[in-house]
Amino acid sequence: MTVHAPLSAEAFDPVNHATPPRHVGVIMDGNGRWAAARGLPRVVGHKHGVEALRRCVEAAVQSRTPYLTLYGFSTENWRRPRAEVDDLFSLARRYLKSDLTRLKEQGVRVRMAGERDGLARDIVELVEHAEHETADGAHLTLTIAFNYGGRYEIAKAAAQIARASAEGRLNPETLSEDVFEEFLETGDLPDMDLLIRTSGERRISNFLLWRAAYAELAFLDVLWPDFQKQHFFDALRDYACRERRFGGAGSAVKASA
Ligand code: IPE
Ligand code: IPE
Ligand code: MG
Repeated sequence: MTVHAPLSAEAFDPVNHATPPRHVGVIMDGNGRWAAARGLPRVVGHKHGVEALRRCVEAAVQSRTPYLTLYGFSTENWRRPRAEVDDLFSLARRYLKSDLTRLKEQGVRVRMAGERDGLARDIVELVEHAEHETADGAHLTLTIAFNYGGRYEIAKAAAQIARASAEGRLNPETLSEDVFEEFLETGDLPDMDLLIRTSGERRISNFLLWRAAYAELAFLDVLWPDFQKQHFFDALRDYACRERRFGGAGSAVKASA
């Protein structure tokens, strides 16, 4: 486990942060292990995970990160026992009710990416209500990836493109990456600059595959319920030290050119 210095979460200084990421994605992982380590049921880990989610949103607002996308429930998470899936949905309901006012006060615009078909009607209504109520949020766009799968998002866009082509609304010869993106559910999000995953796992697990194509990856050895604002700020600082090349030759070559 990484040992972190004493926390001074309020001390984040955006001035020192030269090239901040516009879009940060977080795979919130490790709730089950956090609970198991304490001999507690997994749902207790998920409850503490909601607290960590609040801290993460606050850190994003405080650091003036404009886009934050959190992975809440994957299309693969249906493989879990029904009781755990139900617990996760109950927590989602509770969060959407309890935090709406706070999110509005923080200037957070909430939206969901993922399949609404297949979710309980009342959850979809709570999501739609939150999206409507927070539509004016100007500080942070918080996308919750819920019942979300990256491959599915891309396949669905491809199906829509095929339909548009068949109906003569789109010329397949002119299909560019930019046009393709317009059909994605995350089409209005910028590319992900920084992808944080907690719990020590080093994989993407079908999260925003298209948007994360050139994301810098930060794998943290902290379980999600232990995630503090300082972890977010540390990840931003670490990101600021990375050299993003996007396939180019890099600064060393440029300097000697
Ligand atoms: C993340 O924690 C929460 C969700 C995937 C919804 P996990 O439940 O995956 O926790 P671990 O990975 O089993 O520790
Ligand atoms: C990814 O975590 C999904 C979410 C955080 C919602 P998982 O715990 O489901 O991922 P795997 O199964 O370890 O890859
Ligand atoms: Mg997990």
